[in-house]
Amino acid sequence: MTPFTLVSRSVEYESRLRFLLGERLRVVPGEYMLLGSETVADRAGEPRIVVLGPVLNFEETRQLIRELTQRNPNVVLVVVREQRSELEDWVDQLDLHAVLSPDASDEVTLELFERLMRWMVTTGRAEAADFEVPTPTPDEVRAIVEGPFVPRVDEAEAEDAPVESDETAEAVPAGPRWEFPPLPSDTPSEALAVVAPKGGQGKTTMSINLASGLAEVAPNSVVLVDADLQFGDITAALALQPEHTIVDAVAAVDDELVLKTMLTHHRDGFFVIASAPSPEFADQVPAAALGVLIERLRKLFRYVIIDTTPGLGEHSLVVLEHVTDAVFVMNMGVPSLRAVRTEFELLRTVGLMPANRHIVVNFADKQSGLTVRDVEHIIGAPVDVEVPRSSAVLLASNRGVPLIHDDVRDPAARGIRSLVMRIAPEAFPKRTWIHRKRPAHEPQ
Ligand SMILES: Nc1ncnc2c1ncn2[C@@H]1O[C@H](COP(=O)(O)OP(=O)(O)OP(=O)(O)O)[C@@H](O)[C@H]1O
Ligand SMILES: [Mg+2]
Repeated sequence: MTPFTLVSRSVEYESRLRFLLGERLRVVPGEYMLLGSETVADRAGEPRIVVLGPVLNFEETRQLIRELTQRNPNVVLVVVREQRSELEDWVDQLDLHAVLSPDASDEVTLELFERLMRWMVTTGRAEAADFEVPTPTPDEVRAIVEGPFVPRVDEAEAEDAPVESDETAEAVPAGPRWEFPPLPSDTPSEALAVVAPKGGQGKTTMSINLASGLAEVAPNSVVLVDADLQFGDITAALALQPEHTIVDAVAAVDDELVLKTMLTHHRDGFFVIASAPSPEFADQVPAAALGVLIERLRKLFRYVIIDTTPGLGEHSLVVLEHVTDAVFVMNMGVPSLRAVRTEFELLRTVGLMPANRHIVVNFADKQSGLTVRDVEHIIGAPVDVEVPRSSAVLLASNRGVPLIHDDVRDPAARGIRSLVMRIAPEAFPKRTWIHRKRPAHEPQ
C-alpha cells in the first residue's frame, strides 16, 4: 500500500513529489480524468493522503473528492493550487483538509505532510505504520536476489486478474506469475533503437507499440528500455508504476538476478526499464554503461527495444553502436526530413548505421503538400512504413494502453502493425502483405 497518491497534470510537480516522497507516492496522471473520476479513484489505490493538482479544475476536483471519500471517509485531501481569489470558493464548497501552493518550498511541503500524518495518527484516522516504507529483512533481501524472479503484481493488474475458484487454485501450482523463457543459444537476439533527429516525431509511440506487438511473437522475451534519460515518459504512457529505474538497472548490470528485479512487467507480455526518476538523475547513467546494459539484456531477451532522446547525442550514438536495427521516425515536414538526411550521412560517415533499417513516416498526411515520393527524394531513401495522423494515438496514450491492441482497426494501428511485421514476419499471421526488412547496405 502506498500512503500518498498524487493526481496531477503537471509532470514537473509529479517529479518533485516523487523526489520528496519516493516509494511512498503513487501517481495517477490527471489525463485519466478523460475516463471519469471513478477510474481515477480506482487507480489511486488505498491512499491515506491524496494530493489533487496542479491543474485540475473545480468540477474535476469535486468529482474526485466525492469518489475518494466514498471509498474511504477518512482520506485526507490536499489541493495544490495557486492562491487565487476563487480559492475561497473551493475551500467553502469542497471538503478539503489543506491547500498547498505549487510553488511552496520542499520544506513547507514536507512539513505540511508531516503535520497531516501526525494529525491522522492522533485522531485514529490512520496508523503510524501506514506511512512507513517497510525495510526488507536480510532474509527477504537474500530471497529476492537468490530466489526465482517474482515481479511485483501491480494492484491494478491484480484486480483485473481472473478470480480463481478453489478447484482451479488447487490445480495450478504455486509459482511466479511470469517467467523469463530461456533464450535458446541459437536464437539471435535483436536490439532495435528507435531514433529521430527532432523531438515529438513519435519515437515513444513506436517503441511502446513495437514492444506490445513483438511480445505476441516472443511473450515475456521483450524488454523496452526508456533511454530518454531526462524526460522519458514510457511508464506514464503505459500507466505503470515502476519500483526501479534505469539508474538501478545500470548499477545492477553485473548481476543477472538483481537486474531482473529492476524490470517492470506489462500485462501484454513485455518488460520495461523505466527512465531516470527525474532529470537530475540522468547523469548517473553514463553512455558507456547504457551500451553494457544493452549487451546484457540481449543475452536475456529475444527483442530489446530502446527509445531514445531526439538527436545524435553521445547516448544515442552508443545505443546505435549496440543494436541490430534502427527505426527512424520522422514527420512530413521539410525540416524533419532534411535532418533525417543529415543523420543518415553522419551515421554512414562514422560507421554507425545499424545493419537493418526501417524508415517510418509518422503523421502521414495528404494535406502536408508533400507526397511519399517527395519524402523519399529529400531523405534519399525509400519509406518503409506510413503511419497516418490519428486521434486514436493520443487517446490510447492517455488511457495508458498500446494502440495496436486498443483500436485494431485504426489506420495508425495498421501502419504500426506493418512495422512490427517487418521485424517479425510471423506476427499477426492472418496478414499476407508482409514487407520483409531490407538490409541498410542493399542497393536502393
Ligand atoms: N500518428 C499519430 N497521430 C496522432 N498523434 C500522434 C501520432 N504519433 C504520435 N502522436 C502523438 O504525438 C505526440 C508525440 O509523440 P511521441 O511522444 O511518441 O514522440 P517522441 O518522438 O517520443 O517525442 P519526444 O522527442 O518528446 O520524446 C504524443 O502526444 C503522441 O500521442
Ligand atoms: Mg519520447
